[in-house]
Amino acid sequence: MNGRIIRASAPGKLIVLGEHSVVFGKPALALAIDRRFRCDICPGSGILLNGAGISPRLHPHIDTILRRRNISDLRIETESRIPSGSGLGSSAALSAALIGAVRLMRGEACGEEALALEAFETEYEVQGRASPIDTSTSVHGGGVAVNCPEGLGTPIWHISKGGNSWTVSDIPVPEMTFVVGYTGIKAATGPLVQKVRKYKESNRFASDIIDEIGEVTRDGMRAVSNDDKDLLGELMTRDHKLLSILGVSCRELNKLVDASLEYSYGAKLTGSGGGGSMIASLTSRRRSAKP
Ligand code: PMV
Repeated sequence: MNGRIIRASAPGKLIVLGEHSVVFGKPALALAIDRRFRCDICPGSGILLNGAGISPRLHPHIDTILRRRNISDLRIETESRIPSGSGLGSSAALSAALIGAVRLMRGEACGEEALALEAFETEYEVQGRASPIDTSTSVHGGGVAVNCPEGLGTPIWHISKGGNSWTVSDIPVPEMTFVVGYTGIKAATGPLVQKVRKYKESNRFASDIIDEIGEVTRDGMRAVSNDDKDLLGELMTRDHKLLSILGVSCRELNKLVDASLEYSYGAKLTGSGGGGSMIASLTSRRRSAKP
């Protein structure tokens, strides 16, 4: 790369509770992870990504970010330690990092709230629907809760779209160990979000499941605040069952969750599902009986 290079990076995340139902304005809890997406940008002629052109189909987030800003000349080089389509927030981290770099290059405001809003709008456009949980966690880091019970977190910003609204809060999280299991199956978020929307529109019980995930997530946030790992684990496993009923789990995810229950407080898929990853909250001892 020639010219002045701007570098920005952002972390991936894991959703502890509340994926999918959060798209409908329910609560969710996520943690940033120590794997980041990094991008370097500098002015150039045309759009070059790692030395090649981009396509809206293969690079929908980059294409959307540049199109929304009318950018047609830019060189981008990326490096990621977050596998794409793994449910660990690679596209949110990509969006946060690229938007941050572009804002820096253009001398625009780089405050967290402005970044989180633009990254959310990008995901919303690409997926057809989205919540701010991934993008806000990637921008803010640490523990992030959306629509949490009063007093559990410190509100940092508020986002509304499509009839839903989300208050995003920073939430303190005690020391916990999560193991991530990857199915090896890449799954794009957009189609799974649309699948849940269609299911909700065609099945009158789907809204009850979404409400129940909301309740489980609120209880889980209280369990996190009380450092009650047993209860949090139990709620994670219950959330996995509810997500399975919504149709976003798969055989491989169920196998990994089942296999980990003996060694964990609880386990569930994380992110959009359909493949991707699961998480288990680790105990230091083997559990005697499966729940
Ligand atoms: O799989 P990921 O990392 O894109 O997570 C998606 C989380 C959803 O709740 C399914 C969608 C959203 O926008 O919140």
